[in-house]
Amino acid sequence: MYKLSINEIGRKITKNKLILQYIFDVMGRKKYLIVMAAGSGTRMGAEMPKQFIELEGKAVLQMTIEKFLKVYPDMKIVTVLPEDYMEYWRNYCLERNFGCPQILVKGGITRFHSVQNALAKVPEGSLVAVHDAVRPLISVNFIREIFEKAESVPALIPVIPCVDTMKVLHDRGGQLMTAQGQSVDRSVLYGAQTPQIFHSEVIKDAYTQAYDTSFTDDASVVLKNGKNLSYLIGERFNIKLTTQDDLVLAKAILSLYDASSR
Ligand code: C5P
Repeated sequence: MYKLSINEIGRKITKNKLILQYIFDVMGRKKYLIVMAAGSGTRMGAEMPKQFIELEGKAVLQMTIEKFLKVYPDMKIVTVLPEDYMEYWRNYCLERNFGCPQILVKGGITRFHSVQNALAKVPEGSLVAVHDAVRPLISVNFIREIFEKAESVPALIPVIPCVDTMKVLHDRGGQLMTAQGQSVDRSVLYGAQTPQIFHSEVIKDAYTQAYDTSFTDDASVVLKNGKNLSYLIGERFNIKLTTQDDLVLAKAILSLYDASSR
């Protein structure tokens, strides 16, 4: 009987993976949006997590989902929620006639575990965008641009060049101290945003890794799994609503833009 060497098996697996990837790309990938809304939002200091706070009479989470559906009405939505808010969100959507079909998923202990739970609902051969629910100010033009570019690269990450001078400091019981020997070259620093978009094979495989505290976004998980990332410049106004000040900013930004673009 003819036996395959390990190298030959490896080559066959790689070849099959490439064939599958080619088929997915030719057939067109189904778009999935994973909306990350399972955080507790403690930094906001509000009585409910920030994704459920209303801006202009609408929950931040609804605003975010609607923005994507405006561009791709048939996109599949996976909404990741805190366990305690699943019933609340179901009722909110019913009361507001927000009838878009959503797959509701229970969040995990960290963002990593929340994404892992959501990926279980995403089939192979799809294009997966992971977006923070608390970034409702993304523009429809940017959503279109990033999805179009993401078709042809396995992992696409929006980033914003750092404009501030950065300091590395230690917090010593509330007092900030200079960290010795730490200087930061601002020209190489960028802030990562969402949505980060991946071919499903790439992100599903990356999320089989064990949790690491350095995983603060999906890009860091995929990079640690040995995959290359592509980048594009994001949007300054696609801010992550984190503190009360951000709400003030969000209201100001919303008042500046006409309803068609924001
Ligand atoms: O905590 P951080 O600000 O990085 O959260 C970014 C996004 O991830 C938020 O939209 C938050 O709701 C979500 N998240 C989550 N599950 C967690 C922690 C955060 O879905 N366990």
